[in-house]
Amino acid sequence: MPTADNLRSIAKYRRSSAGYDTTTGPTWPIRMRCIALLALRPGDTVLDVGCGTGLSFEPLLQAVGRGGRLLAFEQSPEMHAQARVRADRLAAQGWQVDLQCASAEEVRLPAAPDASLWHYVHDITRTPAALANLVGQLPGGSRLAVAGMKFFPWWLAPLNLLAWLKNRPYNVHAHQLHRPWSLLKTHLSGFRWEPTQFGMGYIGSGTVLAPQGERR
Ligand SMILES: C[S@@+](CC[C@H](N)C(=O)[O-])C[C@H]1O[C@@H](n2cnc3c(N)ncnc32)[C@H](O)[C@@H]1O
Repeated sequence: MPTADNLRSIAKYRRSSAGYDTTTGPTWPIRMRCIALLALRPGDTVLDVGCGTGLSFEPLLQAVGRGGRLLAFEQSPEMHAQARVRADRLAAQGWQVDLQCASAEEVRLPAAPDASLWHYVHDITRTPAALANLVGQLPGGSRLAVAGMKFFPWWLAPLNLLAWLKNRPYNVHAHQLHRPWSLLKTHLSGFRWEPTQFGMGYIGSGTVLAPQGERR
């Protein structure tokens, strides 16, 4: 069952999905840096969390090669429809793509990924139930890279109104921009992050901790 937040997010993307791809040019270098942090190898299985329209599909597939596999999911029907067009075109060219229309709270992954990309999926990183379901399916030791918006450092605090306004059309948890990685970080070892976009963004990476009972 979708939660109230799922429905609010879906409504936001119903409004913004048509023009979404035209807004992503400035963050393309961050997307590529985030993918590079995954250190993908030929044959890997990689997960694209909240894949949107599928803009990361091609660079991810290039990194895992023909023997690799891309798993992806997205809850907004309008964003998923655009991702579906991309996925079908790539599958017709012989790439292995497994795309689902599902929420992070309910998705069941068809395979265990070696790495996962969390690119601008703020609402997922701020939802404990989504993290519990998703991270619970990621193998311990798998690589994870994340990027998104955050508030500016305190000496630029007046600009945070801008950060919030930019975030609001896309995110239900638009105000939770202080340390947006804080919940995700608890599931990771070796998490490191650095600021991007003069402090209004961040990019980070780590490896998924093994489930509690399996840790040495
Ligand atoms: C800013 S877009 C980023 C899309 C894509 N990752 C990219 O880099 O272009 C955020 C995406 O997360 C999706 N999303 C938000 N909450 C979600 C949830 N709980 N489960 C699945 N997808 C979700 C939205 O529908 C939207 O497509």
